[in-house]
Amino acid sequence: MSEKIAVIGAGLIGRAWAIVFARAGFNVAIWDAIPQALQSCQQLLRENVADLAGHGLIDESVDTVLGRISPAANLADALQGAVLVQENVKETVEVKREIFAEMDRLASPDTILTSSTSWIPTSEFSEHLPGRERVLVAHPVNPPYLVPLVELAPAPWTSAKSVERARDIYTRAGQSPVLLKKEITGFLLNRIQGAVLNEALNLYENDYASSEDLDKVLKDGLGLRWSFMGPFETIDLNAPEGVLDYAKRYGHTYRDVAKTQPPNEWQADTLAKIEKERRTALPAEKLGERARWRDNRLMGLVAHKRKQPG
Ligand SMILES: NC(=O)c1ccc[n+]([C@@H]2O[C@H](COP(=O)([O-])OP(=O)(O)OC[C@H]3O[C@@H](n4cnc5c(N)ncnc54)[C@H](O)[C@@H]3O)[C@@H](O)[C@H]2O)c1
Repeated sequence: MSEKIAVIGAGLIGRAWAIVFARAGFNVAIWDAIPQALQSCQQLLRENVADLAGHGLIDESVDTVLGRISPAANLADALQGAVLVQENVKETVEVKREIFAEMDRLASPDTILTSSTSWIPTSEFSEHLPGRERVLVAHPVNPPYLVPLVELAPAPWTSAKSVERARDIYTRAGQSPVLLKKEITGFLLNRIQGAVLNEALNLYENDYASSEDLDKVLKDGLGLRWSFMGPFETIDLNAPEGVLDYAKRYGHTYRDVAKTQPPNEWQADTLAKIEKERRTALPAEKLGERARWRDNRLMGLVAHKRKQPG
């Protein structure tokens, strides 16, 4: 009998998690506080899984994968017998506290409780729970069925056993877990994304380049390597003798440049200028169409990466 995962919240991320787990053979119970959300999620799930099938990204039929996902009548039914609960409801501390208190009360003591929260540390919504040792953040990247990274960010009181069990489940679900050794706002991915955005905004604001050219620096430059290796492996290979050799050659320059990279204030007029340039390049009514183009490009890239040697 397959293990059961409970997905709480049937919005964008909840639906995507349901696909991740069902694709890997887990049974999924999905529940949402709004019945309409639970109902409309059926059609959206079918469209997303059919897209994956179209790119050769599922090994079974669409119906087989969807057959593992069932809507639950209520929260207690969703949690019943689950090895792990993935929470994906509204992003406020109050709502997270409320739903985790309810889930901690209803779930069996050995069920792992995880949150998809993008910014809220585990300790902010688990501190007073009797079962707080089995609660942790498992932050995905949208959509997790295409982007496998999941950031495991436990509180100081989350048990090592819970973290290991979560890591094992996400790995078996085909994801790529990373562990935060201590809590920090924004976890890892959004902090690194924030550093890149900070510098892109600074360079734009000070008129060093257009927004189009700054986007090109990533898409035709750094991003190509970054789709299969990270910054440390990159510098290890960018000097003949590895990291120390790279640091000897370029470290002082990076240090000097870092002194000229202040925190950007995200000023309204700078963002309005970027918005104007983007709307000239892409009219507002075409945003949805372009997002579908992006998802298709992403599926093509994932299919390509699957065929490459590790
Ligand atoms: N959207 C992203 O790119 C992204 C990426 C990573 C993580 N996240 C995180 O995932 C979580 C969900 O985000 P989303 O984009 O799917 O939002 P969403 O608005 O698409 O979906 C939220 C769903 O939760 C339901 N809901 C709200 N309160 C509830 C409650 N108390 N009980 C049960 N259901 C409830 C809503 O009806 C809705 O269907 C957030 O914590 C968000 O920070 C989002």
